[in-house]
Amino acid sequence: SLLRAASAVFAAAIESIVPGAIALGGGGSDAAARAFRCKDVRHGDYQCNAAMSLFKRLEASGSLPPGVDSPQDLARLVADAVGGMTEKENPVLCEPSVNGPGFVMCRVRSSFLEDGVNDIVRDGAPTRPRRYVGGGTDSPPSSSSSPSDNVVVVDFSSPNIAKEMHVGHLRSTIIGESVCRILEYVGMDVRRVNHVGDWGTQFGMLIQYLKEEYPDVSYGGNDDGEGDGDKGSGMPNITDLTEFYKNAKRRFDESPDFKKISQLNVVRLQAGDEECLRIWKVLCDVSRLEFEKVYRRLDISVEECGESFYNDKIPAVIDEFEMRGMISVEDGGAKCVFVPHSKVPLMLQKSDGGYGYDSTDMAAIRYRLDVLRARHLVYITDFTQADHFKMVFAAAKKIGWVTDGVHRLDHIGFGTVQGEDGKRFKTRSGDTVRLVDLLDEAVSRMESSLRERATEGRANISEDEVHETACAMGYGAVKYFDLRRNPTSNYVFSYDRMLDTKGNTAIYLLYAHARLESIVTKGKADHGIDVDAMMAGDGGKPRIVLSHKSERNLALHLRFFADSIEETLKDLFPYHICDFVYDLSIAASEFVTQCKVLGSPEMESRLLLCRATAITMRQCFDLLGIRHVMRI
Ligand code: ARG
Repeated sequence: SLLRAASAVFAAAIESIVPGAIALGGGGSDAAARAFRCKDVRHGDYQCNAAMSLFKRLEASGSLPPGVDSPQDLARLVADAVGGMTEKENPVLCEPSVNGPGFVMCRVRSSFLEDGVNDIVRDGAPTRPRRYVGGGTDSPPSSSSSPSDNVVVVDFSSPNIAKEMHVGHLRSTIIGESVCRILEYVGMDVRRVNHVGDWGTQFGMLIQYLKEEYPDVSYGGNDDGEGDGDKGSGMPNITDLTEFYKNAKRRFDESPDFKKISQLNVVRLQAGDEECLRIWKVLCDVSRLEFEKVYRRLDISVEECGESFYNDKIPAVIDEFEMRGMISVEDGGAKCVFVPHSKVPLMLQKSDGGYGYDSTDMAAIRYRLDVLRARHLVYITDFTQADHFKMVFAAAKKIGWVTDGVHRLDHIGFGTVQGEDGKRFKTRSGDTVRLVDLLDEAVSRMESSLRERATEGRANISEDEVHETACAMGYGAVKYFDLRRNPTSNYVFSYDRMLDTKGNTAIYLLYAHARLESIVTKGKADHGIDVDAMMAGDGGKPRIVLSHKSERNLALHLRFFADSIEETLKDLFPYHICDFVYDLSIAASEFVTQCKVLGSPEMESRLLLCRATAITMRQCFDLLGIRHVMRI
């Protein structure tokens, strides 16, 4: 990436003046000579701030180079060294100067920027960063290490059976999908795991309620689950699972008999009773269909491996903790594990012998490390579960499944989605918002805005493209509104703001992207310049030449792409990519307003620059899980 390339140049320059200086500084060459993006672009593109601390160290050890009396003097030597390198030694930086107390400021060479854009056009894709920051070691998996070094488990979405997916699950789903795409993009072997809540105590009452309300349904064996509900077999026709859940709960609370039988069902189910299992499976199937509707709409791919999967793996885990003497038995008989820095323990087995959320997660983490051989685990849930995961991680460390420097464990704990009133996001009647309704609303608002555009004669799409375009934009808007911020923050859900055509929204970006492609299209239609053919290499080798300042600035922003990916890999927060693509689109809009593209002498080069930008934007959309459209 550009940041690393610039850092390497500074490191080489410092090394040439004071051999061994970098090693002296400790923390590796990157740390000592790290390049920074200049805050004020009038002063430069990249700067090195190492002269100040290096001066202090050299002064202390009495090894200052002759004639150096201040950090500025040292900075001047560094600048001279950068300036004295040949283009082969330093293809990246030029125009070094010294600023302030000893900052070395540089420009990025135009040739380097031109090469970057030409590479995008040649490859049809932005240059991919290869570096992966995993295992806490900040180094890419080495070739000698086992292939499992590539395995990352991302536990996301994870709704609960027989309950409606709510906005919290939507956040997990949106963030998780993007995190998976980013990790896959840098070459990781990502296991997308849907840790569905399919094994809680709620099943006792649900099973009982289903038995009583749908006595006709035969829960017989080999049903493929495709049958329609009203034939008396296969799926019961439960249209509203939330309603079903509520009714079951009401009976549970009102009838002591029902309650007793329900609790018995839980024990039966967990012990493997056939009838209970069959009914349980029906309930899961019905729920699954609902979840899948949302996943299909949002292009989510995630593999179900719910809590029930770990049920038979829990006893061995408890044994292992027991053998290591790490279990403390509470007064009632519950088996607990205490971990450092936490007063509350993890409960591996309840006093009645049952297993709960903690038990399952310990079995799951064991499985992921041991069977899936993952080196990196990511969990994405709301922030209220932060303590739970801290304990799970600490327990895994305590028993030795996890080793510092080898494994990396992340919990992304996201904030709450609020309504415009600042409270938890609810419908007007106070119910939780159904995800399908929420998505429908985004699409229908987008449809009317597209139709309005059409009546103003500004649409480039026909009526039968409206729905598909509105889906791409509406879903994209919902996703981007979530992804563009630090996930740990709360946010206020607002259709008006997420669907705004101005500002940092998906709508603005999708329009900006379509505008670039429409310029490319006009280039071909009106001026006979075929960018696709040029990219296919039909008409010789076209090259991008940067002449105007806004062209250069756009090319510089294109070079930041890899940096933004590397930044994202550190904390797995996709907003770095949002920030990047938004800044890129601003640079692009400056370029197309300041530079004439169509009909100008530089038309070929500029059309290619438009295309390179569009390609990079599409890559970002894809990493965010957002569909792009070529015309709006
Ligand atoms: N089903 C849980 C919920 O809805 C989330 C599960 C997260 N994953 C995990 N391994 N605990 O809150």
